[in-house]
Amino acid sequence: MTIEATDAAADHVRVTLRPAPGSARATPAAGTGAGCPRGRCGMLFGVRVRRATVQDAEVIALILAEVAEEGLIATEPPVDVPGRTQRLRTMLASEGPSGSWILEDGRQIVGSAGAHETLPGVLSLGMAIVAEARGRGGGRMLLDAVLAHAAECGAHKVDLEVWPDNGRAIALYVAAGFSVEGFRRDHYRRRDGSLRSALLMARHVDRLP
Ligand SMILES: CC(C)(COP(=O)(O)OP(=O)(O)OC[C@H]1O[C@@H](n2cnc3c(N)ncnc32)[C@H](O)[C@@H]1OP(=O)(O)O)[C@@H](O)C(=O)NCCC(=O)NCCS
Repeated sequence: MTIEATDAAADHVRVTLRPAPGSARATPAAGTGAGCPRGRCGMLFGVRVRRATVQDAEVIALILAEVAEEGLIATEPPVDVPGRTQRLRTMLASEGPSGSWILEDGRQIVGSAGAHETLPGVLSLGMAIVAEARGRGGGRMLLDAVLAHAAECGAHKVDLEVWPDNGRAIALYVAAGFSVEGFRRDHYRRRDGSLRSALLMARHVDRLP
């Protein structure tokens, strides 16, 4: 599945089938240097992060629904896309430090990050990028946007939970200055009845690494 970005005034999003491997959608931009690790130099062209608006709510919910199928995030499939969209609209329309950010590759929305104020001055982070857009620097761009926002709005801490076997995400968080603050052993009951543990990670906003 791919999700095409729409003008902010548009009232719909266009969802198409996932492109075949090697298609233009999945290929780093022309002119990227050979040897760029994981093709991330391709992210120098046409990729940007912006603050999400109410009009982005459905796209964010669709991305969550797609990534949830992989079992990498706490949200389990099947995602109630209309319900999630409505909750996101409410959050995005409200004032306050909570917010979401969108990763765009050209006119395609390929990922999002959300930061929710769970305690005064503490923003809890969640991120999801569609599989074919990962490993090219987009996660770091989203994370940097959330950290900049946290500093601007006076938050003192950003925290998150991550499955202990999600090495890619943990590497990203460590590279961005997060450290492990705890471990929730067999904490989350999944729909299949299993229990999952989670790492608690956090970074103080006012203490740069
Ligand atoms: C986690 C996620 C947001 C990271 O985004 P990304 O675009 O893949 O990551 P980036 O390309 O920005 O890489 C940032 C850092 O992550 C690490 N990383 C990226 N790809 C990696 C890979 N294939 N293997 C190991 N580490 C990797 C590196 O530390 C990298 O920084 P560096 O190369 O400068 O050292 C993204 O992979 C994703 O959405 N995964 C599925 C959902 C998920 O796991 N969400 C987080 C739940 S807590």
